[in-house]
Amino acid sequence: MKTPIIIDTDPGIDDIVAITAALFSKELDVKLITTIGGNVGIENTTRNALDLLTFLGKDIPVAKGAGEPLVSKPRTATHVHGTTGVGEYRFEAQANAALLSEENAIVAMKNHIVESPEPVTLVPIGPLTNIALLFKTFPETLDNIEEIVLMGGAAAGGNATPVAEFNIFADPHAARIVFDTAIPIVMCGLDVTRLTSITYEDVEKLKGMGQAGEMVYDMLDYYKHTYSDGKVTIHDLCTIFYVTRPDLFTVERANIKVVTEGEAAGCTITNFTDDGNVSVCVGADVAEFRKEFISVFEGIF
Ligand code: RIB
Ligand code: CA
Repeated sequence: MKTPIIIDTDPGIDDIVAITAALFSKELDVKLITTIGGNVGIENTTRNALDLLTFLGKDIPVAKGAGEPLVSKPRTATHVHGTTGVGEYRFEAQANAALLSEENAIVAMKNHIVESPEPVTLVPIGPLTNIALLFKTFPETLDNIEEIVLMGGAAAGGNATPVAEFNIFADPHAARIVFDTAIPIVMCGLDVTRLTSITYEDVEKLKGMGQAGEMVYDMLDYYKHTYSDGKVTIHDLCTIFYVTRPDLFTVERANIKVVTEGEAAGCTITNFTDDGNVSVCVGADVAEFRKEFISVFEGIF
């Protein structure tokens, strides 16, 4: 039985890798992809999602979500992902516009969740604005969500600021709403994403691995420019591998409090406690994770 998932995303180069891994996983049934403004603006993230699905030949619906955070001013990460969001890569084919839903992301998620015969796993890999709006607008969806497996936060450190990770920093008010919801959450934060960085040698292997491998190689070759230690961190990929291979990860339970204002805005204050509602990924089998990364591209075109 495949796990039904909805991916909420701001592609974004690491999002592209995560979505590709999900689409070709034998364990996952990607029901819907919703887009959010984050790494780049909503028009670019939505176009990148449509371009990727067209390139990979996958007829998955895409629904466009929020272009701005609930309260904070919009922030992007063009310095990491380039102005389009996919580095210097250009998808040649015209995107299949028929994949773009007429429904807004919140309505599309609500419809897929309430109509699903199986509880749905939500996989947010961008700012949490859409997820917060979903819970506030359609609280009945909480009854048919298995868990949320998100990329965001950190028990220690940050990348947007010294104490805040980008996805949380971009919309801390939305993140507080999500983490304050009594629902099982798996936090794939910087603590684990930084452990599971991929080496430049791993990236080079993609060159001979078909069109999907070449596409991801080109994007990661650009993405390398913001890294210096011979590795690249594909943050969002951790969420997909957590759903398909939870055995790769070590988790500790915690309660998370999100700081929404001031110098520490976006900080995920992590109180480790056995009765916490959040499973924080604190460790991973890095060698196996790297093998899993390469295996994504084996046997696809
Ligand atoms: O901090 C890393 C996160 O911010 C990733 O999801 C990346 O795509 C950006 O959205
Ligand atoms: Ca992302």
